[in-house]
Amino acid sequence: MALAPEHQKDFGWRSSTLAGALRLRPPVAQITSSEGELTERWATGAKRVVQIGIAEGGSAWHARRAMDPRGTLHLIDTYPTVLGLNLSRVTARRLVGGVERGRVEWLRARSDEVAKTWDLPIDFLFIDGDHSHDAVRRDWEDWSGYVTPGGHVAFHDALKDAPWMDDSYGSARFVSELLESPGPWRLMDHVDSLAVLGRDP
Ligand SMILES: C[S@@+](CC[C@H](N)C(=O)[O-])C[C@H]1O[C@@H](n2cnc3c(N)ncnc32)[C@H](O)[C@@H]1O
Repeated sequence: MALAPEHQKDFGWRSSTLAGALRLRPPVAQITSSEGELTERWATGAKRVVQIGIAEGGSAWHARRAMDPRGTLHLIDTYPTVLGLNLSRVTARRLVGGVERGRVEWLRARSDEVAKTWDLPIDFLFIDGDHSHDAVRRDWEDWSGYVTPGGHVAFHDALKDAPWMDDSYGSARFVSELLESPGPWRLMDHVDSLAVLGRDP
C-alpha cells in the first residue's frame, strides 16, 4: 500500500525521528487531516508550489498529490543535523518521493537565505517554518511578492480557534494583523489553524 502520513498522531515511544526513519511508524504530519484536504484543494493545478517548513513531509505530501503533473514543488527546510544526519528529512524524502506527480526540489536552508536568489513566480505558497512573529513577517515580505495574481498563500498555525493554538503563536498574531490591514489580500478559506489567502486580481 502507498505510504501516507498520520496526522498529528502521538506514537508514544515510537514518536522519535529515529523510529520514523527506521519505519517503526508512519510519517507524522503536523497538520490535521482537514488541513491536508484544504491544502490539496488550493494546491490543485498549481504549476509552482513553494513550501517553507517540511519536517516529515505531511503538508508537502498533500500538495504534491494535487499540483500540476508538470509542475515543480520547492521544499525549504533548514533540517539541522545531529552527527551529520537529520532523520526527519529521511522520512520526508520517502513520503514525498512516494507520490509520482510533478518534480520536487529540496532546498536545505533557511527560507530567508533561499529568498535572496529566488526569482520565479509562485502559484501556491505554504508557510509553516519558524513561527515567531518576526520570522513569519519576514517570510511574508520575502515571498508573497512572487505569488501570481490568482495565486494563494497558506499559513499554518495561523488561526486562534484551533484547539492547540494560543496567544504565544507569533504566526497567528501576524496573520491577524495582515487580515486587518488594507491591501490586496483576502481570506479565501480556512479550517482548524490553516488560513488560505488570495490576492485580488
Ligand atoms: C511545524 S514544522 C513543519 C510541519 C510540516 N509542514 C508538516 O505538515 O508536518 C516546521 C519546520 O520548519 C523548519 N524551519 C524552521 N525555521 C525555518 C526557516 N527559517 N527556514 C526553513 N525552515 C525552517 C523546521 O526545521 C521544521 O522542520
